[in-house]
Order: sequence, then C-alpha cells, then structure tokens
Amino acid sequence: MRASITAIGCYTPPKILTNADLERMVETSDSWIRERTGISERHIAGAGVASSDLAYEACREVLAQRGVGPETIEAVLVATVTPDMLFPSTACLVQKKVGLTKAWGFDLSAGCSGFLYALITGSQFILTGAHRRVLVVGTDVMSRITNYQDRATCVIFGDGAGAFLLEPSDSDAVGILDYMHEIDGSGGEYLYMPAGGSRMPPSAETVANKMHYIHQDGQQVFKYAVRKMFEISKSILERNSLNVNDIDVFIPHQANRRIIEATAERLGIASDKVLINIDRYGNTTAATLPLATADAVRCGKLKKGSLVLYATVGAGYTAGAALVRWAY
Ligand code: UT7
Repeated sequence: MRASITAIGCYTPPKILTNADLERMVETSDSWIRERTGISERHIAGAGVASSDLAYEACREVLAQRGVGPETIEAVLVATVTPDMLFPSTACLVQKKVGLTKAWGFDLSAGCSGFLYALITGSQFILTGAHRRVLVVGTDVMSRITNYQDRATCVIFGDGAGAFLLEPSDSDAVGILDYMHEIDGSGGEYLYMPAGGSRMPPSAETVANKMHYIHQDGQQVFKYAVRKMFEISKSILERNSLNVNDIDVFIPHQANRRIIEATAERLGIASDKVLINIDRYGNTTAATLPLATADAVRCGKLKKGSLVLYATVGAGYTAGAALVRWAY
C-alpha cells in the first residue's frame, strides 16, 4: 500500500494583474518580465480575501471531484507563508469553513517547498494506517506581502491555492513512490520577511521601513535554485534506478521559467514533458505544484499510470523532490 493522490482542486482569484498593469506601477517592461521570468500575468486576491478563502474553494473542488463529504476527511494540512493570521492556524479556519467536522490539522511553513512537504507529511499518516483520508492544501496570498514599489519582487508573485486528497492505494504500483527533502538554513538571509514575528514585532518603524514585505536577493536564490533543483531531481532518480526517459511529466516549482528550463536541460528531460504555467500565474509559492498538476491533467500530459517527478526549492532554503505514479 502507498499514499495515493485521488483528487485535486485549485483556485485562483478572478482579478488578473498583467505586465502592462505593472508597467504603470513600477519602472519595468513587459519584455523584461517575460524574458527574465517567463511571466505574463498573475492572479490577485480582492480586498479582504485571505489564504483560507482561496483554500476553501480548492478543498470544495477536491471533495466534489472525489464525491465524498467533508466529514470523511480525517486530517487537513495547510502549507502557507501567508496565513490569515499568525494564529489560529489557517488549517483551523479551513476546517471550519469547509465543514471538516472530524478532521484535525495544522499549518506547515516551508516557503515554496511547503506543498511538497505537506504532501509527504500527510502521506505518513496514510502509510502508518492512522488515517484514510488526508487533505493537503497549499495556499498563498503573496500580494499581501509584496511591495508594489519594488520591481525586483512585485513582478514575480501571484495568489492561488490548490489541494490534493490522499488515500491508501490498492497496490504498491501507484501513489507516492519516494521523496527526498532537505533544508539549508544558511540561505535564510536571501529570501525572508524581516518583521512581524517574535524577532521584530510590528511597530510604526517596521511599517515605515517596509519590513512586512518579501525581501529577496534574487541572484543568490536563482543560483541556488538552478543547482539544487537539478541535484535533488538527479538524486531521487538515481536512488530509484530511474532514467529521465522513465519520467512522463516533470512538474517543477514555478519560480522562474529560466530556472525550470535550466533544470530540465541539465536533466536531459524532453521539453514536452515539462509543465510550465508560470506565464499565467507567476510564483504562487505553496500553490504552484497543485496549480501545475491541474494544468498537466487538463492538457493531457498527466494520465492514469503517468510517472511524475516533482521538484521544488524555496525560502529557508528548503528543497524537495518526489516521485508519484498517478492513480486515476
Ligand atoms: O520561489 C522562491 C524562490 N525565488 C526564486 O526562485 C527567484 C529567483 N530569482 C529570480 O528569479 C531572478 O533573480 C529575478 C527574476 C528576481 C531577477 O532576475 P535577474 O536576471 O537575476 O536580474 P538581476 O537581479 O540580476 O537584475 C538585473 C537588472 C538590474 O539592473 P542593473 O543593476 O543591471 O542596472 C535590476 O535593477 O535588472 C533590473 N531589474 C529590473 N528591470 C526591469 C530588476 N527587476 C526589474 C524589473 N524590470 N522588474
């Protein structure tokens, strides 16, 4: 038996922020953004909309797709760096909104690797036999912590949510086959939000100094991402005696089109097997992998029996990879 993904759901808010819109907000250009990042547009949540609201929509879609009631879910894990509040956890808010009356759960923070970490954490409850239905959610309203006067970050991020249902598989042939995760705290200084936590609580000064926004050294993160996405993908393939040709779909975290293409090229994976949808969503942090998975299913790249390689890198640094044999 393995932990198997049996339904997926996604949600992005309807409002779209285009590169042309950004040209009117900061000194940038559509061509710079497309050439340097691959992004054309991103979705932005309306005023008052929080991460649990986006998560609610994604979870409803999962339950409808699988045709199961919310009371059958035994645990809900929410990956986010933009929780509605520091506490209670967004998992508690989602539990209430979706009516997961018999579920427990918690939030998990791992930057852009959050969804993959939550997926693997959730899968452990399936593998031990503790639970039979676990909902794994990635949701972020990055626009709330984005400084729209900082052209180096505001062009990258977008808002969105996605969710997977995990259940025990009937056989060892399908489900999550392996994972490989690692963190490297020495990278923490290159991508972070300085204030709002116990180190630097909110004050008039922290607000005036724009310390409640994403601070990123883009080049440092870029270099790490290009190296690590390749290394971790190669390692997990080797450990499973797999060749890139065995992979049907490569679903990487969507942070920058150049990072994805460099990784795919070094791995030697055919470009038609690589899922790229950053052009329409930007970097939605914990939501990129489910949004990309939904697109892979929609465009026919991902079908029953497909072997999927996931790879991710995020703030922390965090990195991860997983191999999944698609079950439905
Ligand atoms: O998911 C979490 C992990 N995050 C990432 O993976 C992000 C990784 N980093 C990146 O994707 C890229 O580093 C960025 C997209 C953030 C930046 O691209 P870059 O090619 O590394 O640009 P750069 O920082 O080296 O900047 C090159 C030039 C600079 O101008 P000068 O100093 O050469 O005159 C920047 O000021 O581009 C300038 N620049 C821009 N110009 C127009 C930076 N942002 C913009 C912009 N529009 N939006």
